[in-house]
Amino acid sequence: MAAKAGAAAFMFVLFLVSVACQAQLSPTFYDTSCPTATSTIRRAIRSAIASDRRMAASLIRLHFHDCFVQGCDASILLDETSSIQSEKTALGNMNSARGYNVIENAKTEVEKICPGVVSCADIIAVAARDASAYVGGPSYAVKLGRRDSTTASRTLANAELPAFFEDLESLISRFQKKGLTARDMVALSGSHTLGQAQCFTFRERIYNHSNVDAGFASTRRRRCPRVGSDSTLAPLDLVTPNSFDNNYFKNLMQNKGLLQSDQVLFNGGSTDSIVSEYSRNPAKFSSDFGSAMIKMGDIGLLTGSSGQIRRICSAVN
Ligand code: HEM
Repeated sequence: MAAKAGAAAFMFVLFLVSVACQAQLSPTFYDTSCPTATSTIRRAIRSAIASDRRMAASLIRLHFHDCFVQGCDASILLDETSSIQSEKTALGNMNSARGYNVIENAKTEVEKICPGVVSCADIIAVAARDASAYVGGPSYAVKLGRRDSTTASRTLANAELPAFFEDLESLISRFQKKGLTARDMVALSGSHTLGQAQCFTFRERIYNHSNVDAGFASTRRRRCPRVGSDSTLAPLDLVTPNSFDNNYFKNLMQNKGLLQSDQVLFNGGSTDSIVSEYSRNPAKFSSDFGSAMIKMGDIGLLTGSSGQIRRICSAVN
């Protein structure tokens, strides 16, 4: 009896500790320890996007690919070593994920003013928000206080990042496993209003699918032949790939989604109504996108004394 009560008390303390750890994430986390952290990051991010507009897209995607593998812990930034399996060479990242240097440069600037204080995981989260705001998307209060991992996992990255050929059910289930709803998934996929995809990711769709607009498919085929040109780029949003708006959803309603994983969001299934709502109501898309990014930023956190604050983002201390 006493042992049972002891175990229950222990579990309760564990619960309180875990709640306390969660509570440590806050938009004001660095207000005393490094008051100019977020403005310093913003400056670095703005200057990177000013010289390469696509970088806005790449930074938003980097946060997604970080959070879906071991949580938002900057594991995606670690280089290969004898003890680290870099995620940079995972299927969804290799020759595809961009922006590692932009985060490292922001980190260098922040280290100059507050050495050892600001995590790389937080810098990625702030960079994604600043990128969104810079290109006309929502700004939102990023919660801070994440810590950096001392490990990475290519195996997990290969297993957990969604792929362009997946169907709706499988995509919904992947997001659900991370605590995100189908609505969150549709809002987050709306970041395909920005950026580019390589020919090999949409070839099957433009040659072999029936739910694709004929004119759109034929335009895309010009630069993406049946064989070769695998890495030739096409915009994910055919109308306005450089600004954050809701044209992505309008495209889907005309069967002009570039990836299979885009078009499945509007193909007679359970998410059709969300796509159509966002196509009619850009303000709702914008506010849901901000909320979903905040929620995604909460996945699998290291807080308190877990993990570390890396000195450079590409290697553990
Ligand atoms: C629903 C599942 C998703 C799949 C299957 C998927 C797949 C892809 C693929 C295949 C590309 C092109 C990569 C390349 O060709 O190199 C891409 C680009 C991109 N993805 Fe996703 N994505 C998904 C969800 C998301 C989410 C949730 C976000 C952000 C929160 C996101 C943000 C982006 C951005 C911004 C780009 C353009 C990147 C650039 O131009 O550098 N994606 N995605």
